[in-house]
Amino acid sequence: MAGDARKTAEALAYLTGFGNEHSSEAVPGALPDGRNSPQRAPLGLYAEQLSGTAFTEPRAHNRRSWLYRIRPSAAHPAFTRTANGALRTAPFTETVPDPNRLRWSPLPEPLPGTDFLAGLWTLGGNGDATQRSGMAVHLYHANSSMERVFSDADGELLIVPERGGLLLHTEFGRLHVEPAQVALIPRGVRFRVELLDDSARGYVCENYGAPFRLPDLGPIGANGLANARDFRAPVAAYEEVEGPVEVVNKYCGNLWTATYDHSPLDVVAWHGNYVPYTYDLRRFNVIGTISYDHPDPSIFTVLTSPSDTPGLAGADFVVFAPRWLVGEDTFRPPYFHRNVMSEYMGLIEGAYDAKAEGFVPGGGSLHNMMSAHGPDRETFDRASAAELRPQRIDDGLAFMFETRWPIALTPDAARADHLQRGYDDVWRGLEPHFRTP
Ligand SMILES: [Fe+2]
Repeated sequence: MAGDARKTAEALAYLTGFGNEHSSEAVPGALPDGRNSPQRAPLGLYAEQLSGTAFTEPRAHNRRSWLYRIRPSAAHPAFTRTANGALRTAPFTETVPDPNRLRWSPLPEPLPGTDFLAGLWTLGGNGDATQRSGMAVHLYHANSSMERVFSDADGELLIVPERGGLLLHTEFGRLHVEPAQVALIPRGVRFRVELLDDSARGYVCENYGAPFRLPDLGPIGANGLANARDFRAPVAAYEEVEGPVEVVNKYCGNLWTATYDHSPLDVVAWHGNYVPYTYDLRRFNVIGTISYDHPDPSIFTVLTSPSDTPGLAGADFVVFAPRWLVGEDTFRPPYFHRNVMSEYMGLIEGAYDAKAEGFVPGGGSLHNMMSAHGPDRETFDRASAAELRPQRIDDGLAFMFETRWPIALTPDAARADHLQRGYDDVWRGLEPHFRTP
């Protein structure tokens, strides 16, 4: 089964580009010509608009798609509450934000039969989902494919696999994503996750705010960082399933379930710019110094969710990809700093150049607003004495979810067995070297 799914995944075709107007039909003639909502949609389909931004938001940021489906989304029975599992939603009020530097080992093994949804575990977050502001950090560890369908009305889901490939079946079609790639499911889009390996593990940024977009490039120019053409959207594909299908809806922090008499993944054609997509982090065009000092790590931003304040992100997704370090007379690992923004970091593979130990793939660290952090002592000593030849950093792929507000933990995260005790010790032994001349 997984072998067939992998073959399917690897043979998928895609549309390319970020934020552009796509159109796709799984059956020729399913898309209406020249209008969105004809009196009778082609092939007996129902026409339906899915709005990801308010109708009236500026054209440059407006996101909506038109779906042509076997049944309209409205054809469903009532939802009823179901258990939230380890999923939590902002506002996070069960613990107070913690000024300490915190670090976790990977999630423990899930119970048999844990699908992607059941395997989601919330670390913490900020803002308020009902106000469409802020974000949450989740991890997932699953060993079973989803039979049910999920959608998240609270935010878009940026999925960052660390272990195990995924075949995402969405209303818009199918997407294949592997570690070192990311996938984004827009708010409200229904999908299910099929595993391509025995288990799957990774991270999710749930963004309650404005949809992620590419950062402006300013003096960098017209190209660079994540290039728009490298984003992949699915081509239309539909399921014609009659019979009971469980659909779970995350809504204002709670899970609701309904049993449909058909699959809601029944979109035969669609067009628009509100779409799920994937991106290969190895395509990221890394920009850094060719003289001295580091640009700030905002130079590594893949996607940003802006707030109402120019330059201040509700959530940024940042990648520390393989690159050359050539700075002259420069301390080359990330510098010591305190940041008004809060930083959750995870590791997809290998090692990270500011931490010699303890920060492992599948684990993560949280450096909340104004917490002091930087290289550990061993890294500091090594980098301070290193001969400054051009150096290739290619043994790891780390990322950061950065956000404007402190991240408050869930009680699960604050008390987890896999929360590392003694993380502060990595900065022990940074002795004073100060001498007056
Ligand atoms: Fe930092």
